Amino acid sequence: MQKGIIGIFDSGLGGLSIAREVRKILPSEDILYVGDCGNAPYGDQPEAFVIERVLKISDFFLKHNAKAIVVACNTATAAAIDILRTKVSIPVIGVEPALKPAVLNTKTGAVGVMATTRTISSERYQKLLNTYNPDNKVKVVSMKCSGLMNCVENGAWDAPETIDLIEKYTKPIKEANADFTVLGCTHYPFLKKQISKALGPNVMVYDPSPAVA
Ligand code: DGL
Repeated sequence: MQKGIIGIFDSGLGGLSIAREVRKILPSEDILYVGDCGNAPYGDQPEAFVIERVLKISDFFLKHNAKAIVVACNTATAAAIDILRTKVSIPVIGVEPALKPAVLNTKTGAVGVMATTRTISSERYQKLLNTYNPDNKVKVVSMKCSGLMNCVENGAWDAPETIDLIEKYTKPIKEANADFTVLGCTHYPFLKKQISKALGPNVMVYDPSPAVA
């Protein structure tokens, strides 16, 4: 085993959905986790702000002898992973909405993506759409789920306001008759049960955390 820590970070506790999968398959690795709660949510911040935070946290990991960095945040990956890779010489792993399996596996021809405003508005997300759905054969319902990460951070996973937000954001996905929905924010796997319930039994809800790990 190569010496050094694996640095994993997110704007808050969302990245723990990936850290727990990394822990499962690499139990003897040392993980240093940063939740940037004081600056969250990234999803409602300008891109330049997210880039600055990503570079700062990565510096912190390098000072702690990191051998790899996991950007366990779709928003930060979209905004900053390319820049980060030009600045550090260790492997950098990111996470982005799993459009590929969604588009490949849909039978109804419609899929949902739930992510932050910044992720959905990013150039990187547009490129993902162009790569995996170039002819728009599949209807992709991209939902900017502002406020949902705060529900996770507050531990209000089953609170009425959380369920109301989930209902609001899943409604257009249901109306499009999607059979596949991608969790494009690392906070959302903690709401997977609630999101699945709102979408109903015929919609597969995809959590990419094991694949990223
Ligand atoms: N967990 C994050 C993501 O995957 C970001 C949530 C936020 O800070 O808005 O996008």
